[in-house]
Amino acid sequence: MKIAPSILSANFADLGRDVKQVEEAGADYLHIDIMDGHFVPNLSFGLPIVQALRPVTRLPFDCHLMVTDPSTYIQPLSKAGATVIGFHAEATAHSYRIVQQIKQAGCQAEIVLNPGTSLATVEEILPLVDAVLLMTVNPGFGGQKFLPSVLKKIRRLAEIKQQQHYNFEIEVDGGINDQTISYCRQAGATVAVAGSFVFTADPAKQIQLLRQAAEA
Ligand code: DX5
Ligand code: ZN
Repeated sequence: MKIAPSILSANFADLGRDVKQVEEAGADYLHIDIMDGHFVPNLSFGLPIVQALRPVTRLPFDCHLMVTDPSTYIQPLSKAGATVIGFHAEATAHSYRIVQQIKQAGCQAEIVLNPGTSLATVEEILPLVDAVLLMTVNPGFGGQKFLPSVLKKIRRLAEIKQQQHYNFEIEVDGGINDQTISYCRQAGATVAVAGSFVFTADPAKQIQLLRQAAEA
């Protein structure tokens, strides 16, 4: 399983140091939560932080857009060095177009679903996407409790992926710790985002715990 530490829980006064720590600890992606205070009731950070972090690390950037108008972020994010751009299915009536725009910009396209959104919403674009991110909490804040009801959705998505021979990543985000990561892996998830579990006094140890749990 791939591990994507979410910098929402990092120390913003020492972001560069925190990012280097998780890179050295063997993280696979850096998960960057961009919020606009409208799509979710919280504000995090935007483009300048992505630009500032790009020279600091070689980690691929997994940018999770929690914004009402994702299409306006695609070009600037790709120029700022995003690897994966994730947008919420709930934020647009034009998910197909947004996937095309992300790919045209040279990035990998990821569609994100809130816990209450059905897989049926994205069925038609599954052949096109590089990743499907299933939220395992309500988006907007770090440190929330994992919603076990999403496990069923992970299993169903993994079944569809296998039956149709798709090769997108199945990513989970929210409430991931050394227990919930193994439930997600067993259900078929391939990438785990973790914020508050990783960014403690010893991020390397926390990443190690996640890896052990995911392999057990
Ligand atoms: C929540 C964000 C998450 C958040 C996860 O809306 O999308 O990426 O950082 O935080 P934890 O791992 O603490 O639940
Ligand atoms: Zn996220």
